[in-house]
Amino acid sequence: MSGFIGRVSESAVKERLLSGLKLLQFKDDDSTGVLFCNKDGKHLYRVVGQVSDLIPLIPEDVDGYLGIGHTRWSTYTRQVLENVYPLSSETGYVTLVVNGLIDNIQMIKRRLIKRGYSFRSNSAVEVVANLIEDNARENEEPIRALHRAMQFLEGDYALLAVFKGNCRQLFFAKHGVPIIIGQGRGAMLICTDYSAIADQANEYYYPKDGELGYIDTEKLVLFNSRLRETKPHFTEVSVSEKTLELGKYPHYMLKEIEEAPGVIRRLINHYFDGTKYRFDDRLIKRIIDADMIVFIAAGTSYNAALVGQRYLRNFNKKVDVFIASEWIFYPYQSGEDTLYILISQSGETADISKCLRTIRAYGADVLAITNVEVSTLYQSADYSLLLHAGTEISVASTKAYIAQITLLSLLYARLVNKITTIAALERVIEAIYNIISRRDDIKAIADKIYKSKDVFFLGRGFDYDVAVEAQLKLKETTYIHAEAYPGGEMLHGPIALVEENTPVVFFISDSLTVAATREVIEEMRNRKANTIVCSLAPFNDSSDSFIISHPIKGYHSPITFAVFAQYLAYFTAVNLGRDVDRPRNLAKAVRDRNV
Ligand code: AGP
Repeated sequence: MSGFIGRVSESAVKERLLSGLKLLQFKDDDSTGVLFCNKDGKHLYRVVGQVSDLIPLIPEDVDGYLGIGHTRWSTYTRQVLENVYPLSSETGYVTLVVNGLIDNIQMIKRRLIKRGYSFRSNSAVEVVANLIEDNARENEEPIRALHRAMQFLEGDYALLAVFKGNCRQLFFAKHGVPIIIGQGRGAMLICTDYSAIADQANEYYYPKDGELGYIDTEKLVLFNSRLRETKPHFTEVSVSEKTLELGKYPHYMLKEIEEAPGVIRRLINHYFDGTKYRFDDRLIKRIIDADMIVFIAAGTSYNAALVGQRYLRNFNKKVDVFIASEWIFYPYQSGEDTLYILISQSGETADISKCLRTIRAYGADVLAITNVEVSTLYQSADYSLLLHAGTEISVASTKAYIAQITLLSLLYARLVNKITTIAALERVIEAIYNIISRRDDIKAIADKIYKSKDVFFLGRGFDYDVAVEAQLKLKETTYIHAEAYPGGEMLHGPIALVEENTPVVFFISDSLTVAATREVIEEMRNRKANTIVCSLAPFNDSSDSFIISHPIKGYHSPITFAVFAQYLAYFTAVNLGRDVDRPRNLAKAVRDRNV
């Protein structure tokens, strides 16, 4: 994964640029670099390593009013210093960072070599820099050289460019890879990830493919793909400062788990006005009229879609759920009139963007459910619903999952005109506060399981849906192997994996399944498994148990059970000394590969 950030400001940029770069960086990134530009010229610092390795290389007195930074884990080029961005063209005319994949880069490089250019690295970024230099003409505006160069590039990319002798304007170009432009107090920013600049800006513009331009300390000058100046429309997104501060918490994951009650409250306030639901009537009609509803999502968002599928099936709709990376290759359209519901916390998951293109080719409608208003998904959909969960920093999605299910339950309640859902959600808020007050009981369970090599989560119906999320949360934060199965399925093979003390966690919210589940628990206990029961009522069994107070059956049990599962994963990961907010190999948003 990789990301870049650029800042132009009336005051020195170094501190804010590096803090944004740290938010962009992931545990496995293997190179990072920054460029500061001031009256003495350009100051470039790069390292094969992380931001923490870079900072000691930057002299205290070096800063600037314009800066760019890049961080990446390159899966293409052997990581050596000469390949680390930012990289300059042969004469230093332009210095670049690039995100994305340029398909015809080798052909362009061969052409430049024929025109006399030599290369210090085997990075595509240096090729693009020389391409821009090669397109520059005497005393011409840099934007023209940039625009000409873009005409040669094939593929998906976004880039930042600093031109020699120009320390007041930061240039960009965008085609296929998302970037966001932020306007803050006395500063302008460009970034590949909204969450890295959310505390530095409050108005955002989301460039379209083919657009290019530059920012200075106070404005964005924007051009379309034909180099005609065009007016950007900024969106105000107020992110309270506190969202991004850890405060008393040791990790963002714990903070974001405990933000759940506030997230639910915000969703109630946003989508219910006290007497009726506030959803666009066009959207409601669109759902009702659709022959078929197809959910497409990835990871935790896919797990939330499993719950949404059950809601809409209860509304007698034909519903299917697909994993985005599967649907890309095996698209499926059974009904004549299909509404696609794409769920994505970041709104930037590459697989979702690819599905979007296929759906567009079908000419079908898309409802986006996302947490980021300035995201590819939100900007491209026909209908969109915001999660209002606040910026989610921890890689493991917690409050966004709670928001996804809550929003889907409110949408379902609107469809069936069920006002009692509001009271049910109020009880869910109470139940979550109660879980928070008893989180040490969950920690006690984590203390018993953190040395396990396998953990199983079982449930039926909604309880299975949340078991699927529970196993993902545990896996990705603790690196312990975990799996979820429908309650009875364990007996059809996977039980062979159960050994003495293997933790098997049961979610039980439906009295209908208690007897059947009790039998499975017995089977597990006969194999000396460590059975753990999370339920809405006492289970009168010698298993470790955690009872959810204010019992909320059915539609909303996945929310309260999910908070239990999130705490269990969190405390287990802490016991194991994991990097809880930045687990190995993971990215907050799985975007396209990079150069
Ligand atoms: C969630 O805990 C994971 N980090 C991951 O599965 C994530 O849900 C998935 O990558 C989808 O991300 P999105 O919701 O931003 O599309």
